[in-house]
Amino acid sequence: MKAIIYDKKSAGEQLTLQDADKPMPSENQVLVKVHATSVNAADYRSMKMGLIPKSKIFGADVAGTIEAVGKNVKNYFVGDKVVGDLSAVGFGGFAQYVAADERAFVLKPQSVSFEMAASVPMAGVTAYQALIKGNIQPGQKVLICGAGGGVGTFAVQLAKHFQTEVTAVCSTNNVSIMKQLKADHVINYHTESFTEKGEQYDLILAINGNYLLSDYKKALSPQGTVVIVGGSLSQLLKSMLLGKLLFLGSEKLMNLSAKTSTSDLHKILKLIESGVVIPIIDRRYPLDQTAEAVKYIQKGHAHGKVIINIE
Ligand SMILES: NC(=O)c1ccc[n+]([C@@H]2O[C@H](COP(=O)([O-])OP(=O)(O)OC[C@H]3O[C@@H](n4cnc5c(N)ncnc54)[C@H](OP(=O)(O)O)[C@@H]3O)[C@@H](O)[C@H]2O)c1
Repeated sequence: MKAIIYDKKSAGEQLTLQDADKPMPSENQVLVKVHATSVNAADYRSMKMGLIPKSKIFGADVAGTIEAVGKNVKNYFVGDKVVGDLSAVGFGGFAQYVAADERAFVLKPQSVSFEMAASVPMAGVTAYQALIKGNIQPGQKVLICGAGGGVGTFAVQLAKHFQTEVTAVCSTNNVSIMKQLKADHVINYHTESFTEKGEQYDLILAINGNYLLSDYKKALSPQGTVVIVGGSLSQLLKSMLLGKLLFLGSEKLMNLSAKTSTSDLHKILKLIESGVVIPIIDRRYPLDQTAEAVKYIQKGHAHGKVIINIE
């Protein structure tokens, strides 16, 4: 099969299209012919941290068709269309085929395309778990910083689904997308700052942006909650080390460590199937241009998700 193999020692491009052995499913695994995969920060962050999959193939989100099943597989049959997050079972999505534990997958709703399905697992589930961790309640005022990316575009729509008043913080390029997603207010961080508005929010999702923890604290209503989802490594470290000290009052600061969850994935796919959530796809690349797709995401200004379509 063709796959994107990572070579740390390469003097040139580290992610290149190569021939690789088609995997054989073990007894609890399914072999999936991958139709679409999407790129996540987890791909380039794992590369940077030296966390390299055994197969040397990155790619967590996959949507495809089951081509073979191991002898103990109970829930799937050849021909089933599935979607899953492989980040906890060795990655491997940037390839024509991947073998992984059947428990990593859910059935893809028929009306949801492969590329839409492939956009959901990491970003959608992270957005959902961040809102749940922040105990989102109808009627709350929710601020979403970093609303324009993969996680953010799902978070805005899910927060609206929870019947909250959503303020999205993004760049000029993402303002029209936020309006399309029905954010109630949009703050373009190129021209204004949420820190200067004097507004207070019940829940803040810190997905991206160069804000200080004290900025979030100032913008929180009493008893409000900040959920730190992402940002630079130094921001994440600061929130872990200093967050508890700074947020000693009634406001809360929490760090999210999203977990793969087929149950949460299933919920979001159902919302997509019913038209409540629409995955926002920024760019599509063929498999042989995966390195370009990863570089694009790494620049940090995607408008939604970046998909790799695999023939
Ligand atoms: N905690 C967890 O378990 C978990 C799980 C998944 C991801 N993450 C983290 O979540 C973060 C976002 O992931 P992602 O997949 O959404 O990334 P992404 O698709 O690359 O999107 C990043 C977004 O951040 C926005 N942004 C950049 N600078 C900003 C600023 N100053 N203010 C507001 N927005 C800004 C960009 O939009 P603009 O062009 O509008 O600036 C871009 O759309 C990453 O740090 C990732 O590592 C954490």
